[in-house]
Amino acid sequence: MKSLRCTSLLIILTGCAARSDFKFARTSTPKPAAISRSLSDDFWWGVSSSSYQTEDAGPDEENLGFKTDWDLAYESGFIKYPRANGVGSYSQFGRDLAAMKGLGVTHYRFSVEWARVEPTPGRFNEAAIGHYVQMCKAFREAGITPIVALWHFTFPAWLSAKTPEDHGWLHRDFQSHWEPYVARMVESLAPYVDLWAPENEPNTYALGALVGALPPGGGRASYSRYLKTLNIEADAFHRAAALIRKKQPSARIVAIENIIHWKPDAFDFGRFWYTKGVEYNYYHLDKIVDACDLIGINYYFSEVASPLARLAQSLRSGPKVSDLGWIIDPAGLEAEIVAVSNRYGKPMLITENGIADQTDQKRQSYIADHLHAIERTRCAGYDVRGYFHWTLVDNFEWAEGYTAKFGLFSLDPNTRELVPKPSCETYRSFIGSKSIATPSTQRTNVARSGD
Ligand code: FCB
Repeated sequence: MKSLRCTSLLIILTGCAARSDFKFARTSTPKPAAISRSLSDDFWWGVSSSSYQTEDAGPDEENLGFKTDWDLAYESGFIKYPRANGVGSYSQFGRDLAAMKGLGVTHYRFSVEWARVEPTPGRFNEAAIGHYVQMCKAFREAGITPIVALWHFTFPAWLSAKTPEDHGWLHRDFQSHWEPYVARMVESLAPYVDLWAPENEPNTYALGALVGALPPGGGRASYSRYLKTLNIEADAFHRAAALIRKKQPSARIVAIENIIHWKPDAFDFGRFWYTKGVEYNYYHLDKIVDACDLIGINYYFSEVASPLARLAQSLRSGPKVSDLGWIIDPAGLEAEIVAVSNRYGKPMLITENGIADQTDQKRQSYIADHLHAIERTRCAGYDVRGYFHWTLVDNFEWAEGYTAKFGLFSLDPNTRELVPKPSCETYRSFIGSKSIATPSTQRTNVARSGD
């Protein structure tokens, strides 16, 4: 932490401002050596975020005291950390936009907070919707194409229940409110948005529901609840996609799933857990793939398919894992791009990829190595059209609160300004060079620029 702050300070002192247009340090070292031209001009470079993880309250008229199910779960004591006032990405989206312009991204993926735009069932908050419209317009005007997710893990408090069996997707009022919400957002944002993700990682959410790890908490682990959740999510995806296409025929729909690279375990007789792992990756996607134009892969790590893996995860440390014990495995991304392509034959985006790394020591090579993996698949003819780093700024990482640091920037708690980490320069130079460096060359550049 200390060294990160020192490095950031040095970056500022050497003239790469941490404010306004975020001019990053120009390194005296050569640009990353291109080993191919496979990431060309039309490759999408982005960052991803979500509303609940980054938004502040905003002005009263754009807030109206709304609550999500996560807020309720914090109040009930089930969620340990408060989200509090986020990292300001609602009121200060101009600050984030400036940071993105500095990076040179072409796309930004974020989500709308359903609870904010519909704080009470059936009554939309026009001021809040207007704010999201302004946001999308500003990004468009800056040459950054928005991809809007309509659901990223949170529900309005009015879709909350006491038990997981009746909560969120499974709430009795969900069915009648989902389509009007989708329709309202499409009507308002369509002038600026034509890339829509109805859901983010429905498979991760269903798994969380299986083990009772999500709001409202409680309830026994239930495999049937897992399947029921996945099926309802798939139905909701179809309904949203159909509505979006009807209202905006030019729209493109992105299906975003969490894809883990599962490795077989020698003690997994009959490959039971491995099969369940593969089912986790594909169950929802199999059901909705016909309704999407692009498959968004959120890839972070590989894992041994064994019930003990989760326990092992919390004990792991060292250079080959993230601060959360997630195994760093760029070859796993390569394998999963090939697997997803072979299974579905659709164009792909890497809609999330990043690392919890408090000191920013691992993020630079993490970015380089994963981009390199993407490049290899593109050279082999696989249709990967873009890469979105998770995430712009350290934010509220669900059950981990603010302890897990995934950002290219940290947040100055006093000024609320974004402070670039050395890995910002790594990502910026990849985007700028429109090429891929060998990881070792990239590491040399980064070490110099962060000195
Ligand atoms: C993904 C989630 C995202 C964030 C990252 C670290 O699974 O979609 O919200 O928590 O993990």
